[in-house]
Amino acid sequence: MALHSRICEMLGIRYPILLAGMGRASTPELAAAVSNAGGMGILGAASCGPNQLRAWIRRTRELTDKPFGVDTLLPASVRRGPKADNTGVSPRDLLPQHRQFAKQFREQEGLAELTEAEILAIGGRDPADLDGPPLLTKEFFEAQMEVVIEERVALYAAGLGSPEQWMDRLKANGTKVLCVVGATRHALNVVKTGVDLIVAQGHDGGGHNSPIGTMALIPQVVDAVAGRVPVIGAGGISDGRGVAAAMMLGAEGAWIGTAFLATVEAGLRDFQKQALVDGNDQSTVVSRSLTGKPARMVRNKWADAYIEAGVEPLPMPYQGMVAQPVTAAALQAGRADIIPGFAGQGLGMIKSIRPAAEVLSGIVADAERVLARAGSFVAA
Ligand SMILES: Cc1cc2nc3c(=O)[nH]c(=O)nc-3n(C[C@H](O)[C@H](O)[C@H](O)COP(=O)(O)O)c2cc1C
Repeated sequence: MALHSRICEMLGIRYPILLAGMGRASTPELAAAVSNAGGMGILGAASCGPNQLRAWIRRTRELTDKPFGVDTLLPASVRRGPKADNTGVSPRDLLPQHRQFAKQFREQEGLAELTEAEILAIGGRDPADLDGPPLLTKEFFEAQMEVVIEERVALYAAGLGSPEQWMDRLKANGTKVLCVVGATRHALNVVKTGVDLIVAQGHDGGGHNSPIGTMALIPQVVDAVAGRVPVIGAGGISDGRGVAAAMMLGAEGAWIGTAFLATVEAGLRDFQKQALVDGNDQSTVVSRSLTGKPARMVRNKWADAYIEAGVEPLPMPYQGMVAQPVTAAALQAGRADIIPGFAGQGLGMIKSIRPAAEVLSGIVADAERVLARAGSFVAA
């Protein structure tokens, strides 16, 4: 018996397991390794400028002849533009004061002051993109989407927001379109726009996440879309038991991030991979301190500094501008106490750094074993 669902035919893959799009961590090497092993690799391209995104797609094509996808973010709040709060103060006005908070933190932690060019290089930005639109702005997202369309990728995944304005062009290319949602309302909205697949990602997951737990979210999204599109479960699914459970809740596959983070191919520094191996079920926290949106990450001093100071981080994209000089300096210094990175609550299931193909085959074998046994819980 092999793990299988209708998304295998839909996407041309062997197992209904998708590598989650994880910014900078889901590299061409990792996406290709997952696709070659029978799952669907997804590039975590959220912070790739258009030139780098094209290079990543082409590099992945060199590494695999199997289908793979591209994940970017399309947050509606950023695309609408900055909004003043009810006192008339816009987040842009608050930038200097938040930058001062970041400077004090950096100095207190003995982190170097880096130049803009050093920060961009450490963040992995391609110099060819430096003349383009600034990171995570409306123009940046639009430039990324042009590349996704020109390169005719097999699958496009919107990690935040809706790709409605590009839907006709994506569909004309034969690109399957997926949206990650954290609530039934968002699922219903994107189904109306013609998406092919939905990922229901619960609170347990790494990165930007929903306030609703995975176990409660999946069946409610499944019921809300009532079979119109397949639902894929996500958030805290880090082994085959989690995949089996998601399928019992009505999902037709799993979108898995954290379990693929501590792999040889993932685009993390070694000290970050080790922080994952060292972590346990209590190691993560949800904080707006990195991007401005609530995201689950390994607990760290930067997130704690906001809690201790009682300071509210700025909304996206401003908080990213505040955090970048700190996170880049901490990355350069190998400081796992400051930038261990995003991760989900399944962290404690990671025991070592392994090749991605081994992680995938272990998850598939365990899910098959657990699902084959499921009938034993029903008495004749
Ligand atoms: C390191 C990391 C980076 C992430 N970056 C993104 C991203 O750029 N775009 C996105 O849609 N989701 C991102 N996510 C969320 C994942 O796509 C996925 O929903 C999540 O990892 C699933 O939960 P899990 O980590 O418990 O498996 C990220 C998650 C992690 C752990």
